[in-house]
Amino acid sequence: MDRLVIEGNGPLSGRVRVSGAKNAALPCLAAALLTEGPLTLTRLPAVSDIRTMLKVLQALGTSAEVVKDPEGFELTATLALANPAEGLRAPYELVKTMRASILVLGPLLARFGRASVSLPGGCAIGARPVNLHLEALERMGAQIAITGGYVEALVPGGRLKGMDHTFDKVSVGATENILTAAVLARGTTVLRNCALEPEVTDLARLLVKMGAQIEGIGTPMLTIHGVERLGGCTHATIPDRIEAGTHVCAVVAAGGDVVLEAVEPEDLRSLTDLLERCGAAFTIREGAEGLNLRVQREPGQKLRAKDVQTAPFPAFPTDLQAQVMAVMTQAHGISVIKETIFENRFQHAMELERLGANLRIDGGTAIVAGPCRLQGCTVMATDLRASAALVIAGLVAEGTTTVDRIYHLDRGYAGLERKLEGLGARIRRIGGGSV
Ligand code: UD1
Repeated sequence: MDRLVIEGNGPLSGRVRVSGAKNAALPCLAAALLTEGPLTLTRLPAVSDIRTMLKVLQALGTSAEVVKDPEGFELTATLALANPAEGLRAPYELVKTMRASILVLGPLLARFGRASVSLPGGCAIGARPVNLHLEALERMGAQIAITGGYVEALVPGGRLKGMDHTFDKVSVGATENILTAAVLARGTTVLRNCALEPEVTDLARLLVKMGAQIEGIGTPMLTIHGVERLGGCTHATIPDRIEAGTHVCAVVAAGGDVVLEAVEPEDLRSLTDLLERCGAAFTIREGAEGLNLRVQREPGQKLRAKDVQTAPFPAFPTDLQAQVMAVMTQAHGISVIKETIFENRFQHAMELERLGANLRIDGGTAIVAGPCRLQGCTVMATDLRASAALVIAGLVAEGTTTVDRIYHLDRGYAGLERKLEGLGARIRRIGGGSV
């Protein structure tokens, strides 16, 4: 099993190009099921979750031609689904490794009127049910049964019907699943209380390119007029705000001066606002490929502790909570970090404590008292973003930090250690190759 070995050695400097967003790419890949294609998606991050989704699509009958960029950070995939596999089954062996596989359910029901998708089950950061997805699909006319651990879904008559639906809770995945179901439904669907995450907007823009009729993109109310069929197109994935935010947290925690290339600073506003109040400086400039974001924190410059509360976009993302906790171990004062999205998302806290962080967990709240002098040791990654927090802590800690079980990290970061190495970090992978 691969591990990362980090020698904490102070400031980071240089430039780093951020890859495409995993969480935008996953629903866009699932959208390939809506058309005979071909659908070409560029700037897909070369991470294991994307490979898993490609395998799910292939199991459903999709042909996929995949090309890696020379550096190995990104993929271009051309997908086409002319002859669906019998059973239209997304198997447990794949779904269990990645919950987002449930995103194939909406497109399959929309185009083929049937699907069999393994229930994803629990996950390290919380229960993560899919009730919101299933309830909405039932209201669109799908008959759903849970049999042998699978969601067995059938649409009598073959075509979903439009509806007016308010999600009980804001859910990124449910918004994406039902949006991709509605684009081929009969009539108009109105979805209220939709997630506003940039990844949802990216999916909606792709669907429009494919021929879908969607109003209200970027707002909590989406109106979708179902069309008879969708066509292929080419679409570039948006930059990964969570990867970008992870680099930002690394620079602010360790100190340094780094330019993040090809990012969307507006999508990072909740993080940069917070860290500006802590004492970091940010500058936005036009770059060769979109916008660049420069992040600066003088080594030794005092950081102020601030409170953080996670909530749906545009508020602070739960996917950056672990990384910002690593930053707060270096800030002066008390930081109260409230997690409101997932009930069990503080597993990195125990590992940060092993490195010397001074913190206390009370239900959904973590209290960090800084600054803490971190000292390297062996720590274990428990989930994707927790791994990133441990890498950041390792960059700050004195001595050697070994982060074990980094297959979690490889689910969502394309060559993070190579990118950090390019910024001057002393970090290396042991025990095998990159994804
Ligand atoms: C997506 C992201 C994940 C991010 C999360 C929240 C992807 C592939 N993953 O996950 O990285 O952390 O958004 O920003 O894009 N819920 C229900 N019933 C449901 C669905 C969700 O109760 O049917 C709850 C969840 O348990 C959670 C909350 O709603 O408490 C938000 O989850 P959701 O937005 O659906 O997260 P995902 O789409 O799974």
